[in-house]
Parts: sequence; C-alpha cells; structure tokens
Amino acid sequence: MPDALSVHHSRTTLTELMIPSYANFGGKIHGGILLSLMDKVAYACAARHAGTYCVTVSVEGVDFLAPVEVGELVSLHASVNYVGRTSLVIGIRVVAENVKTGQSKHTNTSYFTMVAKDDAGQPTSVPELILENRDDARRFLEAIKRRELKAAYQQELSNAKTSMELASNWSLLDAERCRAVFAF
Ligand SMILES: CC(C)(COP(=O)(O)OP(=O)(O)OC[C@H]1O[C@@H](n2cnc3c(N)ncnc32)[C@H](O)[C@@H]1OP(=O)(O)O)[C@@H](O)C(=O)NCCC(=O)NCCS
Repeated sequence: MPDALSVHHSRTTLTELMIPSYANFGGKIHGGILLSLMDKVAYACAARHAGTYCVTVSVEGVDFLAPVEVGELVSLHASVNYVGRTSLVIGIRVVAENVKTGQSKHTNTSYFTMVAKDDAGQPTSVPELILENRDDARRFLEAIKRRELKAAYQQELSNAKTSMELASNWSLLDAERCRAVFAF
C-alpha cells in the first residue's frame, strides 16, 4: 500500500432509487434506510483509502433536514476528510433528486469515523492523506476542530452527569412538558 493517497483516490458516490418498501407509515423514506446507505458508502470510501477492512466507530451530524420521498434518487457522496493513525473521518453529503422535475435537495451532511483493521482484527495504520486543494485542507482542519469540540463536550457532559443532583434540579421540570407521578 502507498504511504500517502489523495482524497480523490477514494472519493465514492452511491446512488440508489427509493423504492416503496423503504417507506414508513407516513410514506416517507425511513431514516434507518438512509443511515444504512451512509454506512455502506462510508465503508467503501474508507476501505479504498485504507486498503483494508474497516469498521464504523462513530457517527456525527445525522440531522435529516428534509424528508425523502419514494421514487427519488438518493446520491451519497463520500470522501476522506481526515486520517489519524488508524482512523479515518468520512464526510458524506446526501442529495435526493426528483427525476421528473430535475430538482435536487440536500438532506444531510454527516461524518462517519471508521477504523482500519488488519487480518487479526487489530487497528492498523492507514496511508496519509494528500491534500490537493483548499477544500481538502479545510475539511481536514474542520475534522480536527470537530474532534476537539466533541472531546470538550463529552467532558462537560460527564461533569454534568456526576454533579446532577435531583433535589436541586427538581424545579427545572416545572417548565418542561412532563409529569412526575411518583413521590419524591
Ligand atoms: C473502535 C475500536 C477499533 C477501537 O479499538 P481500540 O483497541 O480502543 O483502539 P485504539 O484506542 O487504538 O483506537 C483506534 C482508533 O480509533 C479511534 N477511536 C476510538 N474510539 C473512538 C471514538 N469513539 N470516536 C472516534 N474515534 C475513536 C482512536 O482515536 C484511534 O484513532 P487513531 O489511531 O487514528 O489515533 C474498537 O473499539 C472496535 O473494534 N469497536 C467496534 C467497531 C465495530 O464493530 N463497529 C461496527 C458497528 S457494530
């Protein structure tokens, strides 16, 4: 395997027709179908860069901004945004296209962290990423920033959990849409 590969070496697009069996009771496409397609394209892109089997470790930024309809063509554009030693962050832009009107809508952009594994199932190092333009460099730097923000958020969440005391926070529930039906 080369010791460095460009972003375009592993850029991958998966296009799939949204068939009726993918729909929920409301007639829109299940979020889980889209998640599964995102996982597939993330795997394909990561494995092309790593040259090995990869596993999904973490998923970020899955906010569905617009519903996807039966009959639309969904394209998932994936590229390596960042590489660590054994991990890769794959950015995925999801676009749904109405073939009759020709209109496209961006439904979400998400980030999948994958880890390359060797034949023994252990994390294994991946080639460095060759940044060929400003977008490649911006995405790499944004991935570093997201990782720092996530670490800070997780620390804060952990602190909040350990210091969360029911009695002193009880009054916060008054403003919420819940009913406590037990004696505290
Ligand atoms: C992810 C996994 C490989 C980490 O194994 P580990 O022995 O802890 O290995 P390491 O600590 O060396 O971490 C390996 C890499 O994963 C990264 N990583 C681990 N946990 C992570 C997380 N929650 N988010 C992002 N990256 C993570 C580490 O930063 C490291 O990256 P780097 O080598 O680029 O610095 C292991 O937990 C695993 O196999 N998990 C199951 C994954 C799986 O099966 N997914 C399919 C879904 S069912």
